[in-house]
Amino acid sequence: MNDGNHSTLVWTPSLELGVGSLDRQHRELFGRLDRASELLTGDADAGAIASPLRELVGFTAMHFDTERRIMQAHGFPDSAAHGDQHAELLNQLRRVVAYALSGARRPQAPKILRFLGGWLARDIVDHDRQLAAFLRARGVD
Ligand SMILES: [Fe+2]
Ligand SMILES: [Fe+2]
Repeated sequence: MNDGNHSTLVWTPSLELGVGSLDRQHRELFGRLDRASELLTGDADAGAIASPLRELVGFTAMHFDTERRIMQAHGFPDSAAHGDQHAELLNQLRRVVAYALSGARRPQAPKILRFLGGWLARDIVDHDRQLAAFLRARGVD
């Protein structure tokens, strides 16, 4: 049963970057974060939440690696700061998931996931947008 604390993590068109591969991954990432937050807000048992949460971590790591490879392939100048932001986000996400799976901090987990969603949106707005502009100028879409 949902306790009513779940509020949707919404991907909005303002987060669209015009680079298809990145936009698709961002949309999926938001969907996965939202589902994880919903599951954690409800009373699903540990067995039911484990794989969606692990897949969320895996997908996030894959997404950041996609951006790392793109930045490397195209010689993006701001890749170090962008990579640092990713590493920190992924670290935080791993920590939330570990807490949630141990049961210890599960009540706070949806709130923290939404906080991470906001952080991810800022990564898209600040860093990914610069990367996308750089890529589009080189004909990548
Ligand atoms: Fe991104
Ligand atoms: Fe990024």
